[in-house]
Amino acid sequence: MTGLFITLEGPEGAGKSTNREYLAERLRAAGIEVLLTREPGGTPLAERIREVLLTPVEEVMNADTELLLVFAARAQHLATVIRPALERGAVVLCDRFTDSTYAYQGAGRGLSLARIAALEDFVQGELRPDLTLVFDLPVDVGLARASARGRLDRFEQEGQVFFQKVREAFLARAAAAPQRYVLVDAAQPLAQVQQSLDALLPQLLERARG
Ligand SMILES: Nc1ncnc2c1ncn2[C@@H]1O[C@H](COP(=O)(O)OP(=O)(O)OP(=O)(O)O)[C@@H](O)[C@H]1O
Ligand SMILES: [Mg+2]
Repeated sequence: MTGLFITLEGPEGAGKSTNREYLAERLRAAGIEVLLTREPGGTPLAERIREVLLTPVEEVMNADTELLLVFAARAQHLATVIRPALERGAVVLCDRFTDSTYAYQGAGRGLSLARIAALEDFVQGELRPDLTLVFDLPVDVGLARASARGRLDRFEQEGQVFFQKVREAFLARAAAAPQRYVLVDAAQPLAQVQQSLDALLPQLLERARG
């Protein structure tokens, strides 16, 4: 594969969705083909799985069910959108990917990391993101931003303890593989977050042009 696979990660309200647009614009302005997508979702069928994952309902979703739905959506997304885009040399910018699975279903729900790794291998084969931007911020700041946005989804209804584990998991994953991850201080005002992204741009362009 010749493209570049970049993921944006971090907890609720960190600014992933806000800044993916910004990054995509900057890359496109430099003449790069960018495919902007998100997880769970990214295809019509996978977006239906997203609805199931995010919509609060009375029946409690079993954690294994949640994990399998996340990877079911991912299999569809990889086969029909991400792999074809990488094969034609595009930069894929994906809002959340498997790091979120380790953080939410692993650290948050307490599912076995070995089991997640087995599903990762099964669904993705050798494919891993080339670069992952982790938008990090204190839990209360992120939750306040997410709440201000309106009705809370099934994950946003979790408490502080859950999100503290999620945050720590992202930080631990970034620390364990510093060559793949870039930490972004997402508690800063948006203009400053975007300045940090601008600082990354030369490196991104160089890698995108291979
Ligand atoms: N640096 C910032 N300072 C203040 N507000 C911000 C900042 N970045 C984003 N926001 C606002 O916070 C809210 C959440 O941002 P956004 O939707 O981009 O987060 P997200 O990481 O995509 O969250 P989720 O994981 O829930 O999708 C939005 O209303 C956005 O305008
Ligand atoms: Mg978002």
